[in-house]
Amino acid sequence: MAKSSARSTASAINIGISDKDRAAIAKGLSRLLADTYTLYLTTHNFHWNVTGPMFNSLHTMFMTQYTELWNAVDPVAERIRSLGHAAPGSYAQFSQLSSVPDAPAVPPKAMEMVRILVQGHEAVARTARELFPVVDKAGDEPTADLLTQRLTVHEQTAWMLRSLLEE
Ligand SMILES: [Fe+2]
Repeated sequence: MAKSSARSTASAINIGISDKDRAAIAKGLSRLLADTYTLYLTTHNFHWNVTGPMFNSLHTMFMTQYTELWNAVDPVAERIRSLGHAAPGSYAQFSQLSSVPDAPAVPPKAMEMVRILVQGHEAVARTARELFPVVDKAGDEPTADLLTQRLTVHEQTAWMLRSLLEE
């Protein structure tokens, strides 16, 4: 079988973006999907395991954040499909693609959780931002729009979490 599998529909797509650019954008979006999913899981983990005097506010805040991240993975995956590529959706693929590390096995203290989440949101923002040059070059407005929305959320959430760390 040829390298591009018989199940691939990539060759049948003609939306005005070259095969090469669609492949590059799908690859970048796959990284964004893996980052977002990993950060989702870490945030839900911290919702479960947070302790200390700020329990109530952090438990609630983490719920708002993991719900937003959970809702974000679907449009990213479906954009990959619209570009003619398969969306990754396994822990093995996500761990290979993600720039966000897994949550620590032992739950950290509350403010360390906040620090880890700041780093996670910043990492996802970098992954999204790295993809802009090829998206711009290809005139892929829907992906540019999606990336802009994701950058807005990740940068705002990082700011809110970072503010908790200041005296
Ligand atoms: Fe809950």
